[in-house]
Amino acid sequence: MQFYAKSQDALALKSDVLAVGIFEGGQLSTTAAAADKASKGELKKLIEREKFKGNAGSTLLLHHGLGQSSARLLLLGLGKQKDTAISAENFSCAIQALATTVKGYRNASLALEGVTVEQQSFQWQAQQLAQILLTNLWRFDQLKSQKQPRPTLSKVTLCTDKASLSAGKKGLTEGQALAEGINYARELGNLPGNICTPSYLARQAKSLGRSRSDLTVKVLSEKQMKELGMGAFLSVSAGSDEPGQMIVMEYKGAAKSTAPYALVGKGITFDTGGISLKPGAGMDEMKFDMCGAASVFGTMKTLLALKPKINVVAVVAAAENMPSGCATKPGDIVTTMSGQTVEILNTDAEGRLVLCDALSYVQEYKPKTIVDIATLTGACVIALGSHAHGLYSNDQALADSLLAAGVRSGDRAWQMPLWDEYQKQLDSNFADIANIGGREAGSVTAACFLSRFTKEAKWAHLDIAGTAWKSGSAKGATGRPVSLLVNYLLNPV
Ligand code: BES
Ligand code: MN
Ligand code: ZN
Repeated sequence: MQFYAKSQDALALKSDVLAVGIFEGGQLSTTAAAADKASKGELKKLIEREKFKGNAGSTLLLHHGLGQSSARLLLLGLGKQKDTAISAENFSCAIQALATTVKGYRNASLALEGVTVEQQSFQWQAQQLAQILLTNLWRFDQLKSQKQPRPTLSKVTLCTDKASLSAGKKGLTEGQALAEGINYARELGNLPGNICTPSYLARQAKSLGRSRSDLTVKVLSEKQMKELGMGAFLSVSAGSDEPGQMIVMEYKGAAKSTAPYALVGKGITFDTGGISLKPGAGMDEMKFDMCGAASVFGTMKTLLALKPKINVVAVVAAAENMPSGCATKPGDIVTTMSGQTVEILNTDAEGRLVLCDALSYVQEYKPKTIVDIATLTGACVIALGSHAHGLYSNDQALADSLLAAGVRSGDRAWQMPLWDEYQKQLDSNFADIANIGGREAGSVTAACFLSRFTKEAKWAHLDIAGTAWKSGSAKGATGRPVSLLVNYLLNPV
């Protein structure tokens, strides 16, 4: 798909569809008003006759020539204008509706003159346009023998005035790069456990780094992890025939001496629970237990396209959690890379075990901040549902920065407590720490476990158990929180 920003009279542009905005109550945006004038009031009459209200996400496709050179005029409902601006949610909702309506045409254009969005720039509007269109058109059918026909839309033009042309172009480029990252995360997430193994993820990392001098990839084998003392990680992969892989990707967009931002992703390519076996119903969804890792891959993909002047080190802890004769048993005690010992009371609390060693490892890079992303607890799904990621941090400035990135990108997180009072739930009679903290506050105690391994760093943890994928008939990975992470890394303040 090609995106263009053009400073040209939208009505004179020839395309299959020209979309213009209508506010709630039937108020016309600038270009809609121009079309109305050019059609001698015909457009307004049609809006009234068709009772088009301009509610956010509603559309009306008109085939008549209404002053426009394009074959069709699409009215896009933008919702209520509050002090001449619409909400970001309504804007995104309108672009979703645009995507659905125009994907069957070859080319489309959109005029947003006079449309302002609360607290957002025109660049943001352009970014949303590209991101939403490309994520909407994306399909995951590589494992079906009969493919659906591809959407035909191949060219989208955003009309704007001269002054905002460069902002428009920048936004479109950003949106395309983001969509690429999001769709990549969705693809990796959707791939089943028999294809997307830890070794498969390692190969993905290597292919990202191929022919790129700004991405270095190394993969630690189980033997190397043993030498580093990563007893917690290895206790998880012990039950699987698939060897665990610690994948390290270093993106270098700034001077060597600049401290990197660190990302750490949970990459359990299938979580059976291990000896603490999960119930059978719905267990297929545990192929999504590597969505934290997928979001790290997606973020790296977007960074490789945008080439920001920062350094990022990304670590993916990839393993399969299986029961077998070699598997870890409840009560087993292991020694982590940090030296702390852990009593594994439940082998299904495996995410924190692979993450703690990855977190110890990444601290050797002396990162500015560390953000880990993990489908860590069912308890987080109960607490927050599927709208917000659970956010925990030992540094309030970092937490605030991630919360703000979530708001800017519409990929929101909600901060949860990491108070000392919760820590004692992890006491063990036999080791330094237990890997579970009981029924109460399960998402909090999981974060408390991780906090024991990040004391020296500015660290945040995103529990994405509720947000990383959808169940039911829309089952599939969402690609979250790639947009939050990219937004944070581009404006880390
Ligand atoms: N991957 C799961 C968490 C999960 C469960 C995410 C359901 C999304 C939906 C994780 O490894 C796990 O099994 N956690 C346990 C922890 C418990 C044993 C303390 C859980 O949440 O039940
Ligand atoms: Mn588990
Ligand atoms: Zn898991």
